[in-house]
Parts: sequence; structure tokens; C-alpha cells
Amino acid sequence: MMYRIAWIPGDGIGPEISDAAIKFLEALQKRFSLNLDISSYQAGDSCKARFGVALPKETIEGVKNSDAAVKGPVGESAADVIVRLRQMLDLYANVRPAKSYANLPYLKDIDLVIVRENTEDLYVGKEFEVNGGAVALRVITEKASKRIAKVAAEIALSRRKKVTIVHKANVMRKTCGLFAKSVRGELAKYPELSVNEVYVDAASMMLIRNPEVFDVIVTTNLFGDILSDEAAQVAGGLGMAASANIGTSKALFEPVHGSAPDIAGKGIANPYSMILSCKMMFEWLSNKQNDKDLSKVASFIEQVCVKALSNGVKTPDLAGGFTTDQVAEKLCSLVFMK
Ligand code: NAI
Ligand code: MG
Repeated sequence: MMYRIAWIPGDGIGPEISDAAIKFLEALQKRFSLNLDISSYQAGDSCKARFGVALPKETIEGVKNSDAAVKGPVGESAADVIVRLRQMLDLYANVRPAKSYANLPYLKDIDLVIVRENTEDLYVGKEFEVNGGAVALRVITEKASKRIAKVAAEIALSRRKKVTIVHKANVMRKTCGLFAKSVRGELAKYPELSVNEVYVDAASMMLIRNPEVFDVIVTTNLFGDILSDEAAQVAGGLGMAASANIGTSKALFEPVHGSAPDIAGKGIANPYSMILSCKMMFEWLSNKQNDKDLSKVASFIEQVCVKALSNGVKTPDLAGGFTTDQVAEKLCSLVFMK
């Protein structure tokens, strides 16, 4: 079956890790006779500088008309690109696994998934200047809280069957209160799950002290954004962290991290985040299209990454000595060796 993939390289290290991921996908296409029709679209700071707009109509249409989209990180225009795409396409679930593979410089051996509500909270972008001050609207609804709870429940059922609701309802009684109550109510429909609640400040401490207590964390947009960078570092580094933005019919896959301007252009960016985002894309496509072969491709990608890491195929952020291109080359050669 042919799949149309909308591909956004992004800014900074985005094009570098994009090139590496595309090379890897080409190798996979040969090995598994996949039929991916990949079309590249512009978005981000460099797009804005060239065309005056960070998210052009063609890019929006390209994503809408694709079977799945993959996006590299963008820079300062992130709110105009990714936050807009999430809201526009109602990509309400942001799924962010954090897993410490062998031979990574991880702080703790962890394996958890953060399920972040992706359309509401302080990220609705309703900020106003008022009398020398500034205010922001924090929007939380029962509907969005329940549907994110359902995603968390389903993921937990395929794992260790534990969900931790992370919020701050002791202080934000109305907004976090509604989130906690709605999620609690939805999760009660799954008697097989064990459910607990932790305030976000304590959760951020526990992610470092005893992260093994977590299986699936379900939380609001801003808390999920912050906790997922933290969890990524505990697992070995942001350069490993992949994510999925999932809606009812559309999905967009991207690294958790940003455009890393401090290392852009040096050829040392870690491409695993982008490659593991492609793995998440194959998993999602496999379920959606009932294409079992794609699920095998997804598992194969993880095996290749694990093998490469154990062989020391790592960029400097992981205490390795490989360039981005060298990692891509090694991963491609492993595709044909297995
Ligand atoms: P960042 O995630 O770009 O970088 C944080 C640190 O992690 C830097 O030291 C960077 O070098 C390192 N890092 C990140 N990814 C890496 C990789 N693949 N390999 C090696 N090292 C890596 O966060 P920062 O500096 O706060 O943001 C930079 C820009 O990215 C900002 O303009 C921000 O708006 C944007 N951004 C975009 C996002 C998106 O497109 N979804 C998400 C987060 C930030
Ligand atoms: Mg973030």
C-alpha cells in the first residue's frame, strides 16, 4: 500500500536530522519494499524569513492531504507552526515515551510514557496586556480531559497498567480541579488499571529520584511539555526523544526537542529523535490502516537503533564521537545486515 507522508524539515538542526532520517527511510523502503511517497513542505523561522509566513497554506494542505506527517523542530515560530497545527487538526494527544536504552548516558533506567493534553491549557495563546500587567487564559474542558484520559488508559493497558494523573489541583482548584476530576472519572471505567495522583512539583522530583514508579503519566499541556524534556534527559538525552501528536484521523510525528541553535550547522545533531519519531509513525499507521507489516517495520527500527547504540554509534550529546551523517550511514548499513 502507498502512504503519502508530508515532511517538514524545520529550522536549525531540523534539516540535518531530516536528511539522516530520510536516508534511513530510503534504506527501509528497499529492505521492506515499502511504498512511501514523501513530499517536503516548508514551515518555521527560515520559511517566515523567505516567504513572510511561518506556516504557509501549501504546508497546511500538504499535511491535511497526507496519511501521516513528520516534522523536524522549528525555531522561535514554534507557536505559529506546531501549536497551530495541533489546534487546527485537533491533534489532541501528545504521546512522549521516555526509555533508557543500553549504552546511553541515562541517569536512571526508565521506561514510561507521558500523555500530554495537546490543545488546551495556557497554550491556547490567549494572552492580554492589561494596565501594565499581562494575563493568560488557562482553558481546561471536561471533554478534552476525558479524551486524553482515554488515550492514557489504552496505552497503559498495553503496558504495566498504571496511570499517574499529574496536576496541581491544590492551587489551581478550578482548572486542575476539573482536569483531575474528569480524568479520574474516565479512568474509573478501567478497573484493570491502577491509578494514582501526584502534584506536578512532586512529580518532577520523582522523575529524578524514583522514575520507576511511573508507567503512564497523564497531564495538562504545559506540565507535559516540561516533564517530557525532564524525562528525556533522565532517559539519556533530548536527542533520543520522539513524540506523536495524534488526533481522530490525523497524526504528526516530531522530536520532542527544539531547533538546537547552539549546535546547528556543526553536523553533530543526534538524529535518533527523528528516526524514533518515524518508528511511532509506522506504529500509528499500522493500527490505523490495519497494515501488520508496518508494525514489523516499527519494531525493526527500534531493534536497529538499539543495536547501533550498543555498538557505540552515538553523537557527542550521548558522549559519542559520530557525526549526524555517520550515524545515518551506520543505521542504513544495519538495515541490510539484519
Ligand atoms: P532545544 O530543545 O532546541 O535545545 C536544548 C538543548 O538540547 C540544547 O543544548 C541542544 O543542543 C540540545 N539538543 C536538542 N536536540 C538535540 C539533538 N537532536 N542532538 C543533540 N543535542 C540536542 O531547546 P531550546 O534551545 O530551548 O529551543 C531552541 C528553539 O527551538 C527555540 O526557538 C524554540 O522555540 C524551538 N522549539 C521548537 C519546538 C518544536 O518545533 N516542536 C519544541 C521546542 C523548542
Ligand atoms: Mg517542549
